[in-house]
Amino acid sequence: MNAVGSTPLLELRGVRCVLGGQPVLNELNLQVRRGERVAVIGPNGAGKSTLFHAISGLRPLRAGSVWLDGRRIDRLAPAQIARAGVGRSFQTPQVFAQLSVADNLRCALLARGGGNWLKRRAADTAIEQDTAGWLRALRLAEVSHLQARQIDDARLRALELGLALAGQAPLLLLDEPTAGMSREQAGQMVELTRQVCAGRTLLLIEHDLDTVFRLATRVVVLHQGRVLADGMPQEVRADPQVQAVYLGMGT
Ligand SMILES: Nc1ncnc2c1ncn2[C@@H]1O[C@H](COP(=O)(O)OP(=O)(O)O)[C@@H](O)[C@H]1O
Ligand SMILES: [Mg+2]
Repeated sequence: MNAVGSTPLLELRGVRCVLGGQPVLNELNLQVRRGERVAVIGPNGAGKSTLFHAISGLRPLRAGSVWLDGRRIDRLAPAQIARAGVGRSFQTPQVFAQLSVADNLRCALLARGGGNWLKRRAADTAIEQDTAGWLRALRLAEVSHLQARQIDDARLRALELGLALAGQAPLLLLDEPTAGMSREQAGQMVELTRQVCAGRTLLLIEHDLDTVFRLATRVVVLHQGRVLADGMPQEVRADPQVQAVYLGMGT
């Protein structure tokens, strides 16, 4: 499958993570090419969030390595990995609870400029315009002045998704972006993610199979810290092993 000379944007080689004495990721190998939208699915406890933590530097590897565009990143600190081009959201939204919704977005937009403060000051007007644009796209304009801790769960998730998307990271990791949303809200998020992720590479943990099949170009099934299946959405859906795991978990 590897085109000669093309480096995957993300590659995990033999990744092993041990938590509480138990192996949570086991010799995990995964390659993601530029422009792919890969859904990671699997039962609770399969290791999906740990996979994202391992990529973003929040969990140490016991063995193996993680590569971003040919550069080894698994020994970098989380902030360095973010600057290297890995944006993410969390299963439990991580926002600045005391800041307003608009200020949260301003922070994400300011962080795009890297360390050059003067350049960012000069971009002041652009940041205000971008903030307004994001507030509209996320349907958060009417709560823009509220502190993030005052908004409901679905809006909080929309805000967190916006914080991940508003950065310029070429690789985005979204951990259950539509959890707790109504069908309608989830549908809006799928559309927004699709628009904003054009030209980016997406790794998405998602339980809702409708969302998976609407967004993903490829599906990876994790089970007990290993890749159980990896392929086109239709192939994976038809895989008897995958069906057995999903029936087993009652989803
Ligand atoms: N900090 C931790 N300490 C010990 N065990 C953990 C920790 N975090 C997760 N685990 C265990 O690792 C396994 C995988 O967890 P996780 O990656 O959160 O799964 P998923 O996101 O697929 O539901 C689970 O069995 C979970 O109990
Ligand atoms: Mg999880």
